[in-house]
Amino acid sequence: MKNPSGVDSKELGLAAGLVFARYFLKTEHLHYGYWTEDLEVDISNLRQAQDRYSDILLSHIPGGTRSILDVGCGTGVLSRRLLGEGYEVQSVSPSPFLTSYARDIIGQEAVIHECTFEDLHLDRKFDLILFAESFQYIDLKRVFPGCRALLTGNGHVLICDFFRRDDATGASGLGGGHSLGKFYERMSEAGFGVVIDSDITSRTAPNMDLVRDLLDQFGKPLWDLFLYFLQSNHPRLNWLARKRYRKRIDKIEGKYFSGRRNAETFRQDKSYRLVLCKPEGEEE
Ligand SMILES: C[S@@+](CC[C@H](N)C(=O)[O-])C[C@H]1O[C@@H](n2cnc3c(N)ncnc32)[C@H](O)[C@@H]1O
Repeated sequence: MKNPSGVDSKELGLAAGLVFARYFLKTEHLHYGYWTEDLEVDISNLRQAQDRYSDILLSHIPGGTRSILDVGCGTGVLSRRLLGEGYEVQSVSPSPFLTSYARDIIGQEAVIHECTFEDLHLDRKFDLILFAESFQYIDLKRVFPGCRALLTGNGHVLICDFFRRDDATGASGLGGGHSLGKFYERMSEAGFGVVIDSDITSRTAPNMDLVRDLLDQFGKPLWDLFLYFLQSNHPRLNWLARKRYRKRIDKIEGKYFSGRRNAETFRQDKSYRLVLCKPEGEEE
């Protein structure tokens, strides 16, 4: 995620998202919510839906697991919960902003490897390597060989993240996610076999309706106010900005304020999956 020419924009986006979510939504999770039928899709329930996402993850940790590597630990909330459940946990966090946040949450004595997964070299192994919505950020060619080197004999990899459907049309305008087809290819090339593969898209897609509402009711009015201010108070700057950045402005408006980012288009473009896998040949 590090960028030799400066801070990575995705890293900045996550940090900004956290600042916003912590203040307005009272949540420190950086993953989607898992919406069960009894939970109304409303921003006030997001925190609860995110807790359910964590519950689902924890319920898929194989019996016998003692040590866990939480890759891309974000704010450390999940690592802390896993520690509370009695697991031995180490975390990986390449973002300095999130790492210092996670240290406060998990505890200053927590083992947090401050690097990308790709740059992680350890002389110990784990029973479980966990990617909670962090898998999409890892180099797909390197992730399974990297996991193999870090897994104990009967170890597993647990992934919960969205992938790009191979028939995606781009209707959602939402980037991110590895190609689902390539994911299975790389997994099999690296000699991993699937233990569980659950499609949880219908449970996670509602998050995109919340994003649409947030952009409609909060982002768009603020954006319009900003443009109005520029036009009224700085007409020359406004003219220059429009001339120079027309394409970029159009892109922002098309991407964020056209309403195309919603649950339905998410389902068309993405497949959100919970996958438990392990090196083939190891006994279950
Ligand atoms: C969407 S957040 C998920 C955070 C957390 N797992 C959660 O469930 O709330 C993505 C996380 O992946 C981390 N990340 C991004 N690129 C990474 C990489 N190459 N190696 C390890 N972690 C990475 C980010 O710093 C961030 O902590």
